[in-house]
Amino acid sequence: MSNPFGTDVDPDAAPDPMTLARAWVGEPDRPLVMSLTTVTEDGAPDARHVHLFAIGTEAIRFHTDARSRKAVHLQVDPRVALAIFWPEPLRQLVVAGRAAPVPAATLDDDFGRLSRYLQVLSWVNDDALAARPAGERREVLAAFEAAHPGPLARPEWWVGYAVRPHRLSFWRGDDTGPSNRLEYVRNPDGTWRATRLAG
Ligand SMILES: Cc1cc2nc3c(=O)[nH]c(=O)nc-3n(C[C@H](O)[C@H](O)[C@H](O)COP(=O)(O)O)c2cc1C
Repeated sequence: MSNPFGTDVDPDAAPDPMTLARAWVGEPDRPLVMSLTTVTEDGAPDARHVHLFAIGTEAIRFHTDARSRKAVHLQVDPRVALAIFWPEPLRQLVVAGRAAPVPAATLDDDFGRLSRYLQVLSWVNDDALAARPAGERREVLAAFEAAHPGPLARPEWWVGYAVRPHRLSFWRGDDTGPSNRLEYVRNPDGTWRATRLAG
Protein backbone atom coordinates (compact mmCIF):
# COMPACT_ATOMS: atom_id res chain seq x y z
CA MET A 1 0.00 0.00 0.00
CA SER A 2 1.41 3.40 -0.94
CA ASN A 3 1.79 6.02 1.76
CA PRO A 4 -1.06 4.92 4.08
CA PHE A 5 -0.31 7.58 6.68
CA GLY A 6 0.65 10.63 4.66
CA THR A 7 -1.43 13.61 3.67
CA ASP A 8 -0.75 13.28 -0.03
CA VAL A 9 -2.47 10.05 -1.12
CA ASP A 10 -3.56 10.33 -4.74
CA PRO A 11 -7.35 9.55 -4.80
CA ASP A 12 -6.91 7.90 -8.19
CA ALA A 13 -4.34 5.52 -6.71
CA ALA A 14 -6.03 5.20 -3.31
CA PRO A 15 -5.61 1.90 -1.45
CA ASP A 16 -8.60 -0.32 -0.62
CA PRO A 17 -10.36 1.52 2.25
CA MET A 18 -10.74 -1.55 4.49
CA THR A 19 -7.00 -2.22 4.10
CA LEU A 20 -6.30 1.41 4.92
CA ALA A 21 -8.63 1.21 7.97
CA ARG A 22 -6.78 -1.88 9.21
CA ALA A 23 -3.45 -0.08 8.74
CA TRP A 24 -4.70 2.89 10.76
CA VAL A 25 -6.00 0.65 13.57
CA GLY A 26 -2.80 -1.42 13.59
CA GLU A 27 -2.30 -3.59 16.66
CA PRO A 28 -3.07 -1.31 19.59
CA ASP A 29 -1.86 -2.17 23.12
CA ARG A 30 -5.35 -1.56 24.49
CA PRO A 31 -8.68 -2.24 22.72
CA LEU A 32 -9.64 0.68 20.52
CA VAL A 33 -12.81 2.55 21.37
CA MET A 34 -15.17 3.97 18.74
CA SER A 35 -18.36 5.98 18.96
CA LEU A 36 -21.37 4.09 17.66
CA THR A 37 -24.44 6.03 16.56
CA THR A 38 -27.71 4.18 16.06
CA VAL A 39 -31.22 5.32 15.12
CA THR A 40 -33.94 5.20 17.79
CA GLU A 41 -37.45 3.86 17.21
CA ASP A 42 -38.65 7.43 16.54
CA GLY A 43 -35.80 8.27 14.15
CA ALA A 44 -33.50 10.22 16.49
CA PRO A 45 -29.73 9.61 16.68
CA ASP A 46 -28.30 7.95 19.80
CA ALA A 47 -24.57 7.52 20.52
CA ARG A 48 -22.21 5.72 22.89
CA HIS A 49 -18.72 4.20 22.79
CA VAL A 50 -17.96 0.52 22.20
CA HIS A 51 -14.78 -1.48 21.71
CA LEU A 52 -13.70 -2.10 18.15
CA PHE A 53 -13.08 -5.86 18.12
CA ALA A 54 -11.85 -6.52 14.59
CA ILE A 55 -11.72 -5.14 11.05
CA GLY A 56 -12.14 -7.73 8.31
CA THR A 57 -12.05 -7.29 4.55
CA GLU A 58 -15.77 -6.41 4.47
CA ALA A 59 -16.90 -5.35 7.95
CA ILE A 60 -16.01 -3.85 11.33
CA ARG A 61 -17.06 -5.96 14.32
CA PHE A 62 -18.18 -4.98 17.82
CA HIS A 63 -20.06 -6.75 20.62
CA THR A 64 -22.81 -5.86 23.01
CA ASP A 65 -25.61 -7.15 25.22
CA ALA A 66 -28.70 -8.27 23.29
CA ARG A 67 -30.85 -6.64 26.00
CA SER A 68 -29.25 -3.22 25.47
CA ARG A 69 -30.89 -0.18 23.94
CA LYS A 70 -28.52 -0.19 20.95
CA ALA A 71 -29.37 -3.84 20.19
CA VAL A 72 -33.07 -2.94 20.19
CA HIS A 73 -32.36 -0.06 17.79
CA LEU A 74 -30.40 -2.33 15.45
CA GLN A 75 -33.24 -4.85 15.25
CA VAL A 76 -35.45 -2.15 13.76
CA ASP A 77 -32.91 -0.06 11.81
CA PRO A 78 -29.43 -1.43 10.98
CA ARG A 79 -28.02 1.93 9.89
CA VAL A 80 -25.06 3.08 12.00
CA ALA A 81 -22.24 5.61 12.06
CA LEU A 82 -18.87 4.92 13.68
CA ALA A 83 -16.13 7.42 14.56
CA ILE A 84 -12.62 6.82 15.88
CA PHE A 85 -10.22 9.57 16.92
CA TRP A 86 -6.44 9.19 17.32
CA PRO A 87 -4.79 12.17 19.00
CA GLU A 88 -1.30 10.95 17.98
CA PRO A 89 -0.84 10.91 15.06
CA LEU A 90 -3.75 13.24 14.51
CA ARG A 91 -6.39 11.22 12.65
CA GLN A 92 -10.09 10.47 12.49
CA LEU A 93 -11.97 7.69 10.75
CA VAL A 94 -15.71 8.10 10.22
CA VAL A 95 -17.77 5.22 8.83
CA ALA A 96 -21.39 4.97 7.68
CA GLY A 97 -22.81 1.50 7.14
CA ARG A 98 -25.27 -1.21 8.07
CA ALA A 99 -24.88 -3.59 11.00
CA ALA A 100 -25.69 -7.30 10.62
CA PRO A 101 -25.70 -9.86 13.47
CA VAL A 102 -22.50 -11.92 13.79
CA PRO A 103 -23.08 -15.71 13.46
CA ALA A 104 -22.94 -17.80 16.65
CA ALA A 105 -19.78 -19.72 15.70
CA THR A 106 -17.83 -16.47 15.21
CA LEU A 107 -19.26 -15.11 18.47
CA ASP A 108 -18.06 -18.16 20.42
CA ASP A 109 -14.60 -17.62 18.97
CA ASP A 110 -14.63 -13.89 19.73
CA PHE A 111 -15.80 -14.50 23.30
CA GLY A 112 -12.85 -16.83 23.85
CA ARG A 113 -10.49 -13.98 22.94
CA LEU A 114 -11.93 -11.54 25.51
CA SER A 115 -10.10 -10.74 28.74
CA ARG A 116 -11.33 -12.76 31.72
CA TYR A 117 -12.67 -9.55 33.29
CA LEU A 118 -14.85 -8.78 30.24
CA GLN A 119 -16.06 -12.38 30.07
CA VAL A 120 -17.14 -12.31 33.73
CA LEU A 121 -18.68 -8.87 33.26
CA SER A 122 -20.78 -10.10 30.37
CA TRP A 123 -22.25 -12.78 32.64
CA VAL A 124 -23.05 -10.68 35.71
CA ASN A 125 -23.52 -7.07 34.63
CA ASP A 126 -27.21 -6.30 34.16
CA ASP A 127 -29.58 -3.53 35.25
CA ALA A 128 -30.59 -5.45 38.39
CA LEU A 129 -26.95 -5.62 39.52
CA ALA A 130 -26.38 -1.96 38.60
CA ALA A 131 -29.20 -0.99 41.00
CA ARG A 132 -27.35 -2.54 43.97
CA PRO A 133 -24.72 -0.69 46.08
CA ALA A 134 -21.12 -0.69 44.79
CA GLY A 135 -19.86 -3.03 47.53
CA GLU A 136 -22.49 -5.64 46.67
CA ARG A 137 -21.73 -5.34 42.98
CA ARG A 138 -18.07 -6.14 43.63
CA GLU A 139 -19.09 -9.10 45.83
CA VAL A 140 -21.31 -10.50 43.08
CA LEU A 141 -18.45 -10.24 40.58
CA ALA A 142 -15.99 -11.92 42.99
CA ALA A 143 -18.50 -14.66 43.89
CA PHE A 144 -19.10 -15.44 40.21
CA GLU A 145 -15.34 -15.61 39.63
CA ALA A 146 -14.87 -17.98 42.56
CA ALA A 147 -17.73 -20.22 41.43
CA HIS A 148 -16.40 -20.45 37.84
CA PRO A 149 -12.63 -20.97 37.95
CA GLY A 150 -12.46 -22.65 34.51
CA PRO A 151 -13.06 -21.35 31.00
CA LEU A 152 -16.36 -19.55 30.51
CA ALA A 153 -18.84 -20.20 27.71
CA ARG A 154 -20.50 -17.27 25.94
CA PRO A 155 -23.76 -16.11 27.53
CA GLU A 156 -26.58 -16.19 24.97
CA TRP A 157 -27.16 -12.44 25.38
CA TRP A 158 -23.56 -11.59 24.39
CA VAL A 159 -23.99 -10.73 20.72
CA GLY A 160 -22.03 -8.97 18.01
CA TYR A 161 -22.57 -6.90 14.90
CA ALA A 162 -20.57 -6.61 11.72
CA VAL A 163 -20.80 -3.14 10.19
CA ARG A 164 -20.46 -3.20 6.40
CA PRO A 165 -19.46 0.32 5.39
CA HIS A 166 -20.82 2.20 2.39
CA ARG A 167 -18.73 5.28 3.23
CA LEU A 168 -15.38 5.70 4.99
CA SER A 169 -13.76 9.09 5.56
CA PHE A 170 -10.11 9.22 6.56
CA TRP A 171 -9.22 12.59 8.09
CA ARG A 172 -5.61 13.64 8.57
CA GLY A 173 -4.44 16.59 10.62
CA ASP A 174 -1.32 18.38 9.49
CA ASP A 175 0.55 20.53 12.04
CA THR A 176 2.07 22.64 9.31
CA GLY A 177 -0.80 22.71 6.81
CA PRO A 178 -4.55 22.29 6.27
CA SER A 179 -6.28 19.10 7.41
CA ASN A 180 -7.89 17.02 4.69
CA ARG A 181 -9.96 13.89 4.12
CA LEU A 182 -9.80 10.96 1.78
CA GLU A 183 -13.40 9.79 1.43
CA TYR A 184 -14.49 6.49 -0.08
CA VAL A 185 -18.05 5.81 -1.24
CA ARG A 186 -19.08 2.32 -2.33
CA ASN A 187 -20.36 2.07 -5.93
CA PRO A 188 -23.40 -0.12 -6.70
CA ASP A 189 -21.04 -2.76 -8.18
CA GLY A 190 -19.09 -2.96 -4.89
CA THR A 191 -16.03 -1.02 -6.06
CA TRP A 192 -15.00 2.20 -4.28
CA ARG A 193 -14.89 5.80 -5.46
CA ALA A 194 -12.30 7.95 -3.64
CA THR A 195 -12.42 11.75 -3.34
CA ARG A 196 -10.16 14.28 -1.61
CA LEU A 197 -12.13 16.69 0.59
CA ALA A 198 -11.29 19.58 2.92
CA GLY A 199 -10.89 18.50 6.56
C1 LIG B 1 -14.35 2.82 26.84
C2 LIG B 1 -15.70 2.17 26.76
C3 LIG B 1 -15.84 0.97 26.09
C4 LIG B 1 -17.09 0.34 26.02
N1 LIG B 1 -17.22 -0.80 25.29
C5 LIG B 1 -18.44 -1.35 25.13
C6 LIG B 1 -18.63 -2.47 24.25
O1 LIG B 1 -17.71 -2.96 23.59
N2 LIG B 1 -19.89 -2.97 24.15
C7 LIG B 1 -20.95 -2.43 24.84
O2 LIG B 1 -22.06 -2.94 24.69
N3 LIG B 1 -20.80 -1.38 25.66
C8 LIG B 1 -19.58 -0.82 25.82
N4 LIG B 1 -19.43 0.29 26.62
C9 LIG B 1 -20.61 0.82 27.33
C10 LIG B 1 -21.47 1.65 26.35
O3 LIG B 1 -20.84 2.89 26.07
C11 LIG B 1 -22.90 1.90 26.86
O4 LIG B 1 -22.87 2.62 28.08
C12 LIG B 1 -23.70 0.61 27.08
O5 LIG B 1 -23.38 -0.37 26.12
C13 LIG B 1 -25.20 0.90 27.03
O6 LIG B 1 -25.49 1.53 25.80
P1 LIG B 1 -26.98 1.58 25.17
O7 LIG B 1 -27.93 1.79 26.31
O8 LIG B 1 -26.95 2.73 24.22
O9 LIG B 1 -27.23 0.27 24.48
C14 LIG B 1 -18.20 0.93 26.68
C15 LIG B 1 -18.05 2.15 27.34
C16 LIG B 1 -16.83 2.76 27.37
C17 LIG B 1 -16.71 4.10 28.07
